[in-house]
Formats: sequence, structure tokens, C-alpha cells
Amino acid sequence: MTTSPENMIEIKSLYKKFGKIQALNNLNLNIKKGELLGIIGHNGAGKTTTIRIISCILHPDKGTVLVNNLNIKEKPIEIKSMIGYLPEEPNLYERFTAYDLLKYFGELYNVPSKTLDKRIDELLELVNMSDRKHDKINTFSKGLRQRIGIARSLIHDPEIIIFDEPTMGLDPATASSIRNFILTLKGKKTILLCTHYMEEADLLCDRVAIINHGEILDIDTPKNLKSKIHGDLILNIELKKDVETEKLNKIKNIDGAENIELMDNTLTVSLSSEDLISKIITILDNNIKSVNTKKPTLNDVFIQRIKNEQ
Ligand SMILES: Nc1ncnc2c1ncn2[C@@H]1O[C@H](COP(=O)(O)OP(=O)(O)OP(=O)(O)O)[C@@H](O)[C@H]1O
Ligand SMILES: [Mg+2]
Repeated sequence: MTTSPENMIEIKSLYKKFGKIQALNNLNLNIKKGELLGIIGHNGAGKTTTIRIISCILHPDKGTVLVNNLNIKEKPIEIKSMIGYLPEEPNLYERFTAYDLLKYFGELYNVPSKTLDKRIDELLELVNMSDRKHDKINTFSKGLRQRIGIARSLIHDPEIIIFDEPTMGLDPATASSIRNFILTLKGKKTILLCTHYMEEADLLCDRVAIINHGEILDIDTPKNLKSKIHGDLILNIELKKDVETEKLNKIKNIDGAENIELMDNTLTVSLSSEDLISKIITILDNNIKSVNTKKPTLNDVFIQRIKNEQ
């Protein structure tokens, strides 16, 4: 197996078991150079296990992982130096100051001492922590720790960035500033982002992979994932009374109308185009109390895909 020139990471038939738990079950995934790929999936789906294997922290039972054409089994040290990894819960050295911590990791990654201080200042500026440079980690709040964790993961200017739930548990303003920061890296680095926040995945990612019970269910752009499930928009019509079967069948026969559900006198239909709204309204004639439409969200996609698998 060799890496296609456009892929930074290639994962083929990956398996990992913890005792009786099959955490990864034939997982296949390619991440392109310069891509920002999101991974979404329920708790225990295998997200962290996957990225720990890519980061050479954990050995797989079976399967191949190539990072920039290097095999994790053969070149773990080289691969580690290419990756900036933010774990779910970064373990920071509590008694270090922000500066000491970044200096320590910079030296560990052989960042030349001439450039290290400058790099530390740039990173602290980027994560908006310049004013806390000489404060100890144990005086930092959760969000500030997360920012320092991000700075630490980037100290060696890695080609590949792997963030495991970077905005988990942060206040909306801090989460938003971290998302904006990730956007500034977009296109410049290859980024893998695990998240439970669907809006985050939608906003940031070029493609999103849905992982379920250790395998990839689907991978596509957020836009395509949404249109595959629901069409372009979801139409909700509140009815005055029951709809006749004959009219319902007419609606079901419309090309581009799918996932038709009737519950509590509310008709929900996924439509491939806005033009179909008037067709449906004409069929229902005067049996309409209210009409509204919404664009499908990535959350709708996730819930429906996972539901289909159960
Ligand atoms: N070191 C370990 N020892 C035992 N079981 C483990 C270990 N690491 C992971 N697992 C199990 O493997 C499965 C996958 O875990 P993983 O951490 O990859 O999930 P995840 O998708 O990251 O979940 P979350 O969204 O909760 O972070 C889970 O059932 C988990 O309990
Ligand atoms: Mg996890």
C-alpha cells in the first residue's frame, strides 16, 4: 500500500479491540493534504482510538496506517514529529508557567533555540494568552488550559494537526475564538477534528466522516451529507384535518419528495427543490393551517444515519 500523492493519511482495514470491546472494526479512511476533516460519532464510536493510532500512541491489532507515506509501524518517531495532537484532556504540567511549558515542549521537539522564544510569543498571541505568559498552569481555567494545550500542540509547527474535541465544555465565546483560530489554519495544514458539535463540524470542515461502532458510515462534504439524507429542504405543513389517502399518495408520487411522515396532523416532507412546495400545497388544497420550511442540519443527518444503523 502506498499513499496517493493527494492523501496525507491513509487508513486501511483498521481493527482494535480492548478486552471484549471491538473499538475499531474495519475502519477505512483517507485524509487529503490540506484538508480539514471532521469526525463525528456517538460516545465510544472509536474516534479517539482512531486518532491515537494515527498519532502512534496506540498500536492497532490489524490494518495499515500511512502518514505522509510513512507506516506507523516503521516510522513512529518521524510521524510523531509531523503531528500536533491535542488530546481530549490535555495533561499539562501544573507547576509550569505557560512559557515554561511551551519552552519545554519546543525543546523536546527540537525547535531551534534561536526561533523558539519568537514561536512561543506568536502562539500565545494566536490563542490570546500573551498576558498570562508567566502565570502557572494551575491558575488557569478550563478554557485557558485548552488554549495552552492548543499552543503546545502547535509548538513545532506540525504539518498535521489532530484536535480531539477542542471546544468541549468551553463557554460560547471561547469556543468561538478557538473555531476562528482553527479557520485560520484551514488550507495551510492537514487537520483532523473530532467533535460532538454538529454546527462546528458543519462550519469548519471540508468533509465530515460519520463513525459508528468502529467503522466509517459515510464521508462527504457537510453539504452533500445533508442533501443525501433530506434533500435540499424540509417542508412542514400543519393540517386542519386528516388528509385523504388519495392526496397523500399523490404527494408520495412526486419526484423529489421523500421521507414523507404524517404525525399529529403535521405532514413532513423532504424536498429536492423549493419548486415542489407549491405542488404539495395545491394537492392539499384548503386543508392547511400553517406551512414552514427548514434547511436540514448536520444534526438531522447524524441522528438519521445512526437511527438507520440500529
Ligand atoms: N484504553 C482503553 N481500555 C479499554 N477500553 C477502551 C480504551 N480506550 C477506548 N476503549 C473503549 O473503546 C471504545 C471506543 O472508545 P473511543 O475513546 O475511541 O471512543 P470515542 O468515539 O472517542 O468516544 P467519546 O465521544 O466518548 O470520546 C469505547 O467502548 C471505549 O470504552
Ligand atoms: Mg473520544
